[in-house]
Amino acid sequence: MTLLRPLLLACGMALVSGAVCAEGASPASDGLPFESKLAACTACHGENGAKPIMPEYPILAGQHADYIAHALRDYRMGRRNNPIMGAQVQALKLTDADIDRLAAHFAAQISHLSALKR
Ligand code: HEC
Repeated sequence: MTLLRPLLLACGMALVSGAVCAEGASPASDGLPFESKLAACTACHGENGAKPIMPEYPILAGQHADYIAHALRDYRMGRRNNPIMGAQVQALKLTDADIDRLAAHFAAQISHLSALKR
């Protein structure tokens, strides 16, 4: 359920914004548009990845892109083990292209982490 809810949420948000929601919100469905994958992330990590819904969920906004990409690849291959994130990466079937795009997107967002990069 922890897995399904953000995906459903993401799908709902995609519909509201007029984007196409690929065949249902099944966690097993492949080929979700990038925007839906991105919306799934923000369901937990907050708008632009800057305001996580839980204090223990990390801020992604302003994080180094290579750090984000590295973490996502580690979750994907099980080198970094976290049931919540591992399930996300699997359910969304993140490709290398998705990972690089998500990393660049969140790295470009503003948070207090952005200031630390300067
Ligand atoms: C169901 C909630 C949830 C969703 C959805 C989610 N995450 Fe996470 N994310 C977490 C939690 C919890 C952690 C902390 C896990 C850990 O300690 O390893 C985390 C950790 C991360 C990290 C590591 C950050 C760090 O500072 O080490 C990255 C990168 C990340 N998530 C990216 C994403 C991306 C990109 C998406 C969308 C494809 C996404 N997450 C979707 C809950 C979520």
